[in-house]
Amino acid sequence: MNVIRRKGWEIPEREATPESLAMNRRALMRGGALLGAGAILPGLSEATLAADDPTAGLYPAKRNESYKLDRGLTSEPTASKYNNFYEFSLNKSAYLQAESLKARPWTLKIDGLVAKPLDMSADDLIKAMPLEERLYRHRCVEAWSMTMPWTGFPLKKLVEYAKPLGSAKFIRFETFMDPKMAPGQRAFFPWPYVEALTMAEATNDLALMVTGAYGKPLPNVFGAPIRLHLPWKYGFKSVKSITKVSFLEKRPKTFWEESGPGEYGFWANVNPEVPHPRWSQATEEVIGTGDRRATLLFNGYGEYVADLYKGLEKENLYM
Ligand code: MTE
Repeated sequence: MNVIRRKGWEIPEREATPESLAMNRRALMRGGALLGAGAILPGLSEATLAADDPTAGLYPAKRNESYKLDRGLTSEPTASKYNNFYEFSLNKSAYLQAESLKARPWTLKIDGLVAKPLDMSADDLIKAMPLEERLYRHRCVEAWSMTMPWTGFPLKKLVEYAKPLGSAKFIRFETFMDPKMAPGQRAFFPWPYVEALTMAEATNDLALMVTGAYGKPLPNVFGAPIRLHLPWKYGFKSVKSITKVSFLEKRPKTFWEESGPGEYGFWANVNPEVPHPRWSQATEEVIGTGDRRATLLFNGYGEYVADLYKGLEKENLYM
């Protein structure tokens, strides 16, 4: 999600990241990174796990085998050192600064058009929900991808729990606001980070509230203690470290719509045929492998989500 204007197409490494970061990434790739599906490695992220996490005993959760992959998993050390978490850093070293995220205790607020607004402990919610592991592809708008073993529960379970009123048409997610803890929040963006979905998208089977990765509770850099993952959309829709979930009648403005109007839209469904205004989305760099692959419509998840967008052809569904 860089904001530097450059010309040219099909040079995703240089287009999507500053040169110094490209150098770091090449070093990572030299290290090699792919594992066979199912492998779980200890990694640096363990250092970021909260020692007093009362949900730790829930991991690893049973894998839901319905979600198949067409490639190997990205290794944990690779995935946890190549992240976007702008609250902590504008570059891929966010894993270092994200050490200062205080993920426990953590309160999640549910408000807006619901029968009963409530504040609850994220740990109580995680303990009440049916956790499962899913292997998901993850495609960033910067034209790179990873494959992650997430643990979490379907977002639709949270929607059922919240009991939204019939007038609720959208669901809005907000991240914490704490510039003392998160130095990136002292920079020019319209904090806090906000993302939103239609209710139909939110209750789709694929939409996952993520609470763990690689068979363990979520490390800070992945958005502890609770984040979203929407594998058919560009990664910026998958908001990290959620503190508030609101049910709304009107479509809210998102963080990236405010930051880059004309570039980062509300829908942001993956489509190789619709370029970002500054680079192609036709292919993706598979982080940790040195490979470049053709990007798939809806990131390959069309069978689950294509129907959601029937009748919306006039909307700018892809960027
Ligand atoms: N959520 C918050 N709160 N802050 C962020 O900067 N970055 C987004 C998304 N969610 C971001 C966020 C982007 S651009 C991407 S690609 C993914 O998180 C990265 O997730 P990962 O670090 O698990 O790969």
